[in-house]
Amino acid sequence: MTKIVILTGAGISAESGLGTFRDAGGIWTKYDLGEVATPEGFARNPALVHEFYNARRKNAAEAIPNAAHAALARLERAMPGEVLIVTQNIDDLHERAGSTAVWHMHGQMTRARCAACGETWDAPMAMRPDDPCPACAAPATRPDIVWFGEFPYHMEAIWEALRAAEIFVAIGTSGSVYPAAAFVQDAGRAGAHTLELNLEPSETVGDFAEARHGPASEIVPAWVEEMLRC
Ligand code: NAD
Ligand code: APR
Repeated sequence: MTKIVILTGAGISAESGLGTFRDAGGIWTKYDLGEVATPEGFARNPALVHEFYNARRKNAAEAIPNAAHAALARLERAMPGEVLIVTQNIDDLHERAGSTAVWHMHGQMTRARCAACGETWDAPMAMRPDDPCPACAAPATRPDIVWFGEFPYHMEAIWEALRAAEIFVAIGTSGSVYPAAAFVQDAGRAGAHTLELNLEPSETVGDFAEARHGPASEIVPAWVEEMLRC
């Protein structure tokens, strides 16, 4: 039974060298979100969208999980079946650090999806718009990523886990993208203790019962040590 639900965002992967979205120099300060992260942008220029994710896939493949990812994997090993990570991140650093209960609500860069029939498969390092679907052969390959205007994955199961959680922790997320930004309220209403672990106060810091600020590689292992002592 899940007791601890952990929401992670781009901030947990920042110290592994993957850029965040909204910090100074973040991804959305360099790219037009409407062109590279919406179904309409993909319809207009699929090659540009693939180029954007091909570069991010390469960066992520070269990145190494940091002490924050490792600490969450340690927590799951110590409390089998009781720890769930819900991540907005499309990288696989949680899995590579050893976490197994990880739900990717915004999809994964390592997977491809057919826009025609919905089949999914392991993405090659470099995807092209005319790559044929292995199931239906349509040249409609897209990254298996949830774009703006699309509905995130696993939502019913996530809300159920939030209602049952004793502790809800948000790590490295600015609290500016919904529905993830409302998870703190969903969990808090259902009685969970809510904790923010972020470099700086997020937009939703006021919704948390407790907040600790600093680099994830320091404050996440410290929190995990505390959890393992009780
Ligand atoms: P949004 O607020 O437009 O919602 C997306 C869809 O989900 C809408 O159709 C909305 O009606 C529905 N929805 C939202 N909350 C709901 C709820 N509680 N119950 C039922 N339906 C609900 O969201 P958005 O800002 O367009 O973003 C969509 C998602 O895609 C976000 O989670 C975002 O982070 C993600 N995204 C990922 C990337 C990426 O590059 N990885 C880029 C852009 C967006
Ligand atoms: N340690 C902890 N937190 C950090 C660190 C760090 N080393 N570096 C940055 N942060 C914090 C920032 O202070 C910021 O609050 O991480 C947060 C990152 O916020 P965003 O860039 O907005 O990323 P995120 O919240 O994951 O974005 C949500 O937006 O575009 C979409 O789909 C994309 O999943 C993403 C969603």
